[in-house]
Amino acid sequence: MKPINVGLLGIGTVGGGTWTVLTRNAAEITRRAGRPISITTVADRDLDRAREVTKGQAKLVDDAFSVCKDPEIDIVVELIGGYTVAKDLVLTAIENGKHVVTANKALLALHGNEIFTAAQKKGVMVAFEAAVAGGIPIIKALREGLTANRIEWLAGIINGTTNFILSEMRDKGLPFDVVLKEAQALGYAEADPTFDIEGNDAAHKATLMASIAFGVPTQYERAHIEGITKLDARDIAYAEELGYRIKLLGIAKKRDDGIELRVHPTLIPARRLLANVEGAMNAVLVKGDAVGPTLYYGQGAGDEPTASAVIADLVDVTRMHTADPEHRVPHLAFQPDQLEDLKVLPIEQCRCGFYMRMRVEDKPGVLADITRILADNEISIDALIQKEPAEGESQTDVILLTHVTVEGNANQAIAQIEALPVVAGEVTRLRMEQLDR
Ligand code: NDP
Ligand code: HSE
Repeated sequence: MKPINVGLLGIGTVGGGTWTVLTRNAAEITRRAGRPISITTVADRDLDRAREVTKGQAKLVDDAFSVCKDPEIDIVVELIGGYTVAKDLVLTAIENGKHVVTANKALLALHGNEIFTAAQKKGVMVAFEAAVAGGIPIIKALREGLTANRIEWLAGIINGTTNFILSEMRDKGLPFDVVLKEAQALGYAEADPTFDIEGNDAAHKATLMASIAFGVPTQYERAHIEGITKLDARDIAYAEELGYRIKLLGIAKKRDDGIELRVHPTLIPARRLLANVEGAMNAVLVKGDAVGPTLYYGQGAGDEPTASAVIADLVDVTRMHTADPEHRVPHLAFQPDQLEDLKVLPIEQCRCGFYMRMRVEDKPGVLADITRILADNEISIDALIQKEPAEGESQTDVILLTHVTVEGNANQAIAQIEALPVVAGEVTRLRMEQLDR
């Protein structure tokens, strides 16, 4: 049977994994796809490394654009990363009638609307299972498996690097920089690891999941993004004391008035399965109105886990490429003319519980002042601990958890608490989610 010809752009971590798995499992994959899937051409800047991986089994070129225009190529797999050259390459491939498979969440979160529109016009597929949560088939689950549901919210640990850093810091007491270097050596981190630790990568993925879950255009520019670089070890310890773990979560919630789309360190109850996802593992919890909560867990980064998702897309495209484009699964799960113009809400309108830590004078009336301010701002307290002051000190830490409130109210209360003469410095604030309904 005639093989489907694939042009691979970028044979680094994920490209190398894709080559290896496709070669190792060729027979099994062919049985599933109905015909062989063959990487006939590889483009990379480093041809020596490409030669080492492919061992003469593919044509090697350094001009990736030539692959996108090659009439012999059916599917272009973009595994270069970034959103400059990669965008031009993907649009060139589409323009030339190629189907595209990519793991590039940054590209799709920023330029997905343009890319999907171009693909739809040309009648080609753009598949991106590997772009979210590495090897976990979360795109397939959201787009197809949960298609009967109104999806209410989703929350996920969707960046392996930061989860690895948080786990190693907590369990082994290792410093941030040391663990980040280890994550880079293991191939988890982005080419620019700022994207991981500042939350951008998780926001790219949350943006894509929100679009598919709720049937809205991608709105990365409106997402609220906070990473883990400002996280203080004291808060990790206090959270544990209160029965919570801190995880970097990507959260998307559908409300009648808009969408919450946010990435930030989040306190979650330690007894939740999500709180016990460690290392570079990822997990996504999705709440559908019919099915209830469902949880997807697996390796979120690395060569072969991500290759698993890339190849799943290759098989899907191989099976579907002769089908009438109207009969294919839409890129964003909903028919393109049915996307809803529901906007991502500003963070001040988002609702969640809060953890607040403040340094206060240890004297009568201080707690009364703080609780009065919270009550005036319609914030109710869930738990509160006041530490004994260290010997010889007049100040101590107060830590409190609130019930769900509007972020704008929390901001106002924090500003008023910080203005109290008995409160020293700034209030540390973290968001909290119960993830139970
Ligand atoms: P790598 O940096 O390991 O691989 C990219 C490869 O592309 C490198 O060999 C690079 O060469 C080459 N390259 C860069 N620019 C060009 C160009 N203009 N023409 C030809 N080749 C080029 O990245 P990853 O494999 O880690 O990531 C690839 C994509 O997959 C990214 O979008 C990433 O976000 C995504 N992803 C990565 C995961 C992971 O675990 N690593 C998991 C899920 C998604 P050189 O080294 O010389 O720059
Ligand atoms: N840098 C990403 C992570 C790779 O750490 O999760 C997988 O998308």
